[in-house]
Amino acid sequence: MSTNTLNPVLIIGGSGVVGRRAVKALRRLQPTLPIWIGGRDRDKAAALASEVGLAEAVRIDLERDDLGLPPDAAVSGVVVLLKDDTLRSMKYAQAKGVPYIAFSDFAFDIGPAVALHAHRPAAAPILFLGHFLGGTMTLATLHLAREFKKVHAIEMGGLFDEEDVGGPAASGDMERLTRGVPSPLIRQDGKFVWASDEAASRVFHSADGTAWTGRAYPLLDVVSLAATTGAATVRLDFAIRAAAQRPQGQGAGFETIIDITGELPDGTTARVRHALVDPDVHSGLSALGAALATERMLGLAGGPPAAPGLHHPEGLLDPAYVVQRMQESGTRIWRV
Ligand SMILES: NC(=O)c1ccc[n+]([C@@H]2O[C@H](COP(=O)([O-])OP(=O)(O)OC[C@H]3O[C@@H](n4cnc5c(N)ncnc54)[C@H](OP(=O)(O)O)[C@@H]3O)[C@@H](O)[C@H]2O)c1
Repeated sequence: MSTNTLNPVLIIGGSGVVGRRAVKALRRLQPTLPIWIGGRDRDKAAALASEVGLAEAVRIDLERDDLGLPPDAAVSGVVVLLKDDTLRSMKYAQAKGVPYIAFSDFAFDIGPAVALHAHRPAAAPILFLGHFLGGTMTLATLHLAREFKKVHAIEMGGLFDEEDVGGPAASGDMERLTRGVPSPLIRQDGKFVWASDEAASRVFHSADGTAWTGRAYPLLDVVSLAATTGAATVRLDFAIRAAAQRPQGQGAGFETIIDITGELPDGTTARVRHALVDPDVHSGLSALGAALATERMLGLAGGPPAAPGLHHPEGLLDPAYVVQRMQESGTRIWRV
């Protein structure tokens, strides 16, 4: 194995619930990549750094333009696993000319980052990864959509366990979502709509046939899948399952149902549904998505380093490769 000559990749929020697992997933994928684990509590990050090796803890101050790092700090990329509403971390990546990954932006959040990119379009590659499970579900959907000549509709239903909760940063995002933000974005009959009332709810059926009433969620999968497939209808709805409703012998894992309607190569129209079931809590696949995106952005897997510009995961990662990695990590996928 060749030794990595890259500067450390800075993972801000690398000591959090998702972050710890993203750091470990990245270490498995890239054993020689130096990693800086950033947060406010350096001790917490330091414990993880010694556990994963070739890593250092750094204290991050998002109130400072230099993030509290030394002037000569040299990083190969900046990954932000929390909502940085100052965008100083993005400006930092632009100033250094290195890739930037934003993991916590909802569909309604990206305006300020788009403007910062438009202001300096050649400064750095910017990846919006505010997608369901770190982009893995959009990539899996694109993989499953390959059997269609034309896709008309994509409906995703996510079923989370009530005990599958993230850390304080994730709860903060949920609070942000319920306080004064727009209705969820869906694409309906060719139009992007901020859905309210009944349009924001949908009944979907889990793999065992149980009906769940889900609510649309404003993640970036809707715009990614609409742009990539041209589907006139795209939505993503979430429902919560009580621990008592878990299928027998199942823990706090999650399930996603992906319904795709479209035209098959023989000209007939079909609706095909797949179940993706993971025994792990949702931070597992989210972290895998973040790690796969990081190595891809840096040019360590799947192609050369991402060029300056705005990116979405489906523009960088090969769906078949991501699905293979998901299955290796324990996700089961089958046609229902
Ligand atoms: N796209 C996706 O698939 C996806 C999936 C799951 C979660 N998320 C998002 O990912 C984020 C992390 O979730 P989580 O459950 O891992 O939360 P968490 O456990 O609270 O982790 C937050 C991390 O950020 C650090 N941090 C918090 N505030 C900071 C600040 N002001 N400056 C520097 N570092 C700071 C924390 O370390 P210190 O406390 O030491 O500062 C910790 O490492 C949330 O925004 C969540 O909504 C996205």
